[in-house]
Amino acid sequence: MTDTLRLGIAGLGTVGVGVVKIVRKQAALLSARTGKSIEISAVSARSRDKDRGVPLGDYAWEDDPVDLARRDDVDVFVELMGGDDGPAKAATEAALAAGKDVVTANKAMLALHGQALAEQAEAAGRALRYEAAVAGGIPVIKSLTEGLAGNEITRVMGVMNGTCNYILTRMEETGQGYNVLFDECAELGYLEADPNLDVGGIDAAHKLAILSSIAFGTQVDFDGIEIEGIQRVTLEDIGHAADMGYRIKLLGVAQRTGRGLEQRMMPCLVPAASPLGVLQGGTNMVVIEGDAVEQVVLRGPGAGEGPTASAVMGDVCDIARGLRLPVFGQPAESLEAAPAARSVLPAPHYLRMALTDKPGALAKVAAVLGEAGVSIDRMRQYAHTGDTATVIIVTHKCTRAALDTALGDMDKTGVVAEAPVVLRIENL
Ligand SMILES: NC(=O)c1ccc[n+]([C@@H]2O[C@H](COP(=O)([O-])OP(=O)(O)OC[C@H]3O[C@@H](n4cnc5c(N)ncnc54)[C@H](OP(=O)(O)O)[C@@H]3O)[C@@H](O)[C@H]2O)c1
Repeated sequence: MTDTLRLGIAGLGTVGVGVVKIVRKQAALLSARTGKSIEISAVSARSRDKDRGVPLGDYAWEDDPVDLARRDDVDVFVELMGGDDGPAKAATEAALAAGKDVVTANKAMLALHGQALAEQAEAAGRALRYEAAVAGGIPVIKSLTEGLAGNEITRVMGVMNGTCNYILTRMEETGQGYNVLFDECAELGYLEADPNLDVGGIDAAHKLAILSSIAFGTQVDFDGIEIEGIQRVTLEDIGHAADMGYRIKLLGVAQRTGRGLEQRMMPCLVPAASPLGVLQGGTNMVVIEGDAVEQVVLRGPGAGEGPTASAVMGDVCDIARGLRLPVFGQPAESLEAAPAARSVLPAPHYLRMALTDKPGALAKVAAVLGEAGVSIDRMRQYAHTGDTATVIIVTHKCTRAALDTALGDMDKTGVVAEAPVVLRIENL
């Protein structure tokens, strides 16, 4: 081993430039903390001519990230290009095959190919680290794999897409609708090239898939996640939820049930005064519950140059210190393929219904809910608009299946004017 750790950085965008800056600015600190001089040997990006605001002349240039990954003067391949497949995956595989350690910020690649990459890394005896892939600057991977390793994890929850949280927070603050705030995010550069990755809940679901694997010792299963984005959240629901003491968040939840692994990423109500309820703007939060620790709440910046580069450098430092843990906290070959379970655990639900102005309408709805085993905790009726009145119902804990049975029978009442809005309530 030399006392120098040489990085090859593929991708010089927001995160890559942030990493270059830390390596240059904090050389003495990094060396003091790791006992190694951390240096950049070579870099790669699509355009060689782009001014990236950092001096790159000291580093060798590779047009092809796969060539960068295989260079003899690279000990750690740092993948910061993105994309679940293509060059990111090819270069990561090439780096591991060439005996390099890998650090990546690429949640899409890990959510879709994490198991195979982990097996490759572990067979080669190399590290594959990805702190920056989940919740940006929050050290959540390290917390789960190391600090909480003595716990049986019972539930992991998180608000892990800052753009969605920004839109939902601003809807409540400003009274502006989803479409206006979507456009504002586009102008501010907050959206991914494919905005559906953000507002459709996919980016956050990639992160949840990774957390679930570590928390429950299961193979990453992105396809097993129930995903719904924030596109259908209305100002009306945000207002009614607030009236009932809740806020709407795009919340990821993973927990094991008797039937398998339940993972969902969808808009939910959370108590307004809870840690998740008070989370504003682009900040991320991950809540981890374990049998011994009870509850840990981690909060911090989920994206951006500095926070994401901070997480990448944490991984680089661990590699410099010689720490090589199994990729998902236990050997990849021991990770179970847990069957995906569809929300079987009971929870309270929020229902918004438009009821026609007929005598006994509420009683009919309550009867249908009761027949399906769904009992009402609270109910509020708002003034009529035209022929209908909005009624908000908060149920006691019930399964989604029971609720679906009741909703299926609602037409029979003859008083429900349009399809009810149903949102799960997660209590902390
Ligand atoms: N931005 C964040 O706040 C954040 C937070 C957490 C995780 N991440 C993850 O970090 C990774 C990078 O994100 P980013 O925001 O830094 O992306 P970005 O600003 O779009 O930068 C991507 C970089 O990759 C380079 N690149 C793309 N395709 C390439 C190829 N085929 N060969 C060589 N270079 C290629 C681009 O080159 P050019 O510059 O020449 O086009 C660019 O420098 C992604 O996986 C992302 O999901 C980002």
